[in-house]
Parts: sequence; structure tokens; C-alpha cells
Amino acid sequence: MPGENLRRFEGRTAVVTGAGSGLGKATAARLAAEGASVACVDLVVDAAAETAKEIGAAGGTAKAYRVDVSDPASVRDGVSAAAQDLGRPSVLVNCAGIGKFAHSHEMPFEDWSRIIGVNLTGTFLMAQAVLPHMLEGGGNIVNIASNAGLMGAPFSAAYCASKGGVVNLTRALADEYLRKNVRVNAVAPGMIDTPLTNKFEVPAGANPKAIAKLASPLGVSSPAEVAALVAFIASDEGRYMTGSIVSIDGGLTI
Ligand SMILES: NC(=O)c1ccc[n+]([C@@H]2O[C@H](COP(=O)([O-])OP(=O)(O)OC[C@H]3O[C@@H](n4cnc5c(N)ncnc54)[C@H](O)[C@@H]3O)[C@@H](O)[C@H]2O)c1
Repeated sequence: MPGENLRRFEGRTAVVTGAGSGLGKATAARLAAEGASVACVDLVVDAAAETAKEIGAAGGTAKAYRVDVSDPASVRDGVSAAAQDLGRPSVLVNCAGIGKFAHSHEMPFEDWSRIIGVNLTGTFLMAQAVLPHMLEGGGNIVNIASNAGLMGAPFSAAYCASKGGVVNLTRALADEYLRKNVRVNAVAPGMIDTPLTNKFEVPAGANPKAIAKLASPLGVSSPAEVAALVAFIASDEGRYMTGSIVSIDGGLTI
């Protein structure tokens, strides 16, 4: 497992949302391989439990929690259970996210609300629940934004708006907690090979060429590659980084 010869998170507790799949799963595995006790948070608890089981089988420590990040009560309960079971969280990685291509003039209100609710409000609610623990001894938050938070793209109004929100939410929190020993950064991936991107379909009647600009000449990246970057930022090696928005997108946003 990449990172197992590094022990940058020994004795630390990390909360990772979206840990049942894709980037969240790879990040949970990476932090655990480096010694963290990991709270694997996901709406699909069986998927998070599978991640925790795989971490345990590899010699790490992890436990699964069913949390809907868009629901304040669910977030509060999940974070307090994780803190009780695994100790004070000092790392939070907000990976839970959803997306769907749609013509904006036809997008159902429910889809708009759900994408903003999970990607943007969920990121805030998780930070809000974990921050009191971080204020007791330091910590850091890594939010998974997207190239879609830094550029426009067709059929993605809610997704782009949510990720643009995550970008500036990151800066706002970084500024607010700058002198409180809490760092807040974001990683903005481009096209990563995960179930999320494999499900994306251009809406009916749309010209597929309209999304050609989302393809990097460098191809796609892997969840493990993004997880390695997240681990660096969340570790003490990222000590001087806060309020940073770090792209890993094969040059999409040059
Ligand atoms: N894959 C990419 O190319 C890419 C690019 C840029 C940004 N991102 C972002 O990275 C993050 C992870 O994406 P991924 O590709 O790994 O997706 P994924 O679909 O593989 O995993 C997302 C996970 O989030 C969970 N989730 C969804 N809604 C939730 C909720 N309300 N509460 C708790 N958990 C919930 C899902 O159950 C799933 O396990 C997302 O925020 C996504 O927007 C992905």
C-alpha cells in the first residue's frame, strides 16, 4: 500500500467522508496506512464498512459510520460517535460528493438542492461539527473541490456552483481559524477514474463535443494519486499551507 513506510498520522484520528467509494475510500486507506485511526463516513454504510474491513485486514484501524453529510443531526451524531470511539479528530477530509449532467433549463429543483446540499452544505456541516475538536489541540481540513469549482462547464450548473462554493468556503474557514492552529485547504481534481465519473452522461440532445474541454491530454488520474496529495497537505509536511486550492487536473485549469 503506498504510504505504509510513512507514519505521518500515527496517534491521530481522521474523519473521511465518502469513504465508501472512489477518492474517499483511497484517502481513508492512505491515512490508515500512515497510522491514522480512520472514521469512514458514508451514506452507504455497507460500503464504508467494507473500506473499514479492508483497512483492518491491512493492519490499520478504522470504523464505519452512516452519516448523511447534508443533514445536521446525522453529522452531529456521526462525528460525536467517531470522537468517542476513535479519539479527538484532528483531520477531516470532505470527499462525499455527487454530480449529474443536466440542461440547466430543465434541471429539477430537487436535483439542484441535493447537489448543493451534499457538496457545499455537507462540507460546511462536517467542518462545523469537527472544528470544536480541532480547537482543542489543532487540526486540519482538506475539502475535495474540483476543476469545476475553478472554471465553467456546460450541463453542470449545480455542480460548478457547489464546487465554487467549496473553494471560497475553504478560504473563508482558513482565514477565520488562521491563528487557532487549524489549517483548511482544498484539492481540486480533474478527471479521476471513479464510479462518479463513470456514471456521468451527457444529457439527451447535447453535443458530446461540448464537454471535450474536460478531457486532459494527460488522460485520467487515479484515486490513490489524489489520496497521496491529500495526505501530504493533511500531514505536518503541509504545515505552511492554509487557504490553498491545489489543482490536480492534468492541466485543465491552466
Ligand atoms: N472523480 C472525479 O473525477 C472527481 C473530480 C473532481 C472532484 N471530485 C470530487 O471528489 C469527491 C469524491 O468523488 P468520487 O469520484 O470518489 O465519487 P464516488 O461516487 O466514487 O464516491 C462518493 C461517495 O460519497 C458518498 N456520498 C454521497 N452522498 C453522500 C451523503 N449525502 N452523505 C455521505 N456520503 C455521501 C457516496 O455514497 C460515495 O461513497 C466528490 O466530492 C467529487 O465531486 C471527483
